[in-house]
Amino acid sequence: MGKAVWKPGTMLNPVPAVLVTSRHGGKDNVLTVSWTGTICTEPPLLYISIRPERHSYRMIKASKEFVVNVPTADMAHMVDFCGVTSGADVDKFKAMNFSKRKATKVKAPIIAECPLAIECRVEEILDLGSHHMFIASVVAVLAEESLIDKRNRFKLEEARLLCYIHGHYCSTTKPVGKFGFSIRKGKGTAARRKRRPDAKGSSLEEPGAPRPSPASAGGGRKKHRGQEKGPRRSGKNEG
Ligand SMILES: Cc1cc2nc3c(=O)[nH]c(=O)nc-3n(C[C@H](O)[C@H](O)[C@H](O)COP(=O)(O)O)c2cc1C
Repeated sequence: MGKAVWKPGTMLNPVPAVLVTSRHGGKDNVLTVSWTGTICTEPPLLYISIRPERHSYRMIKASKEFVVNVPTADMAHMVDFCGVTSGADVDKFKAMNFSKRKATKVKAPIIAECPLAIECRVEEILDLGSHHMFIASVVAVLAEESLIDKRNRFKLEEARLLCYIHGHYCSTTKPVGKFGFSIRKGKGTAARRKRRPDAKGSSLEEPGAPRPSPASAGGGRKKHRGQEKGPRRSGKNEG
């Protein structure tokens, strides 16, 4: 298969598209961020990269706190709006009719419509060039109760989370495998896989998924670090 050689650029896809909320000077704001990801399991750390010219940049730099609100595909319109308008000009919470709720550990509000809210405290800011990277500790994870099953798993496949692929908002609904399935042995596994490659009911698992509260984290086989049970989490890039 031939490959065209392109100049270096940001072609890694798909990426998330999340709503990052902040509070500073008595004002709340929200912006859309795709340059975000998990960078460490223990301690749980994530990053967001933001251009210094953004209104949110100044707010987060000053307050040292933010919340990553993970939206559903149904919220694509709101995600786009928060990514093309500035909090310097418009109250995006009002404009999008977001239900603002208190977070548990930080002052920035959460957006109740999002099934996951990840509360973060900034540890370090790296000036990388066009973007500055905020490395942050995850201090709390709020998961939508109606999406948690009896075994305390976050039903990712039902959450219809949003992702962003080269200028298009897409939904993540079709599981195509399960963590470790490539090496799992078992009666009929291969045949089953052949018959139902995208079988309903499988859910994506990943090393490094956030853990639930200690009270609900119990049971089952021995787990390795980074494989604990917990709520399963699962561009043209504007970054
Ligand atoms: C899908 C999408 C992803 C984006 N990702 C980022 C990002 O990772 N970093 C960034 O600085 N801006 C990003 N933006 C642009 C900001 O969201 C946008 O400039 C926003 O208006 C800034 O709002 P604020 O001025 O209220 O902070 C993105 C926009 C969209 C639509």
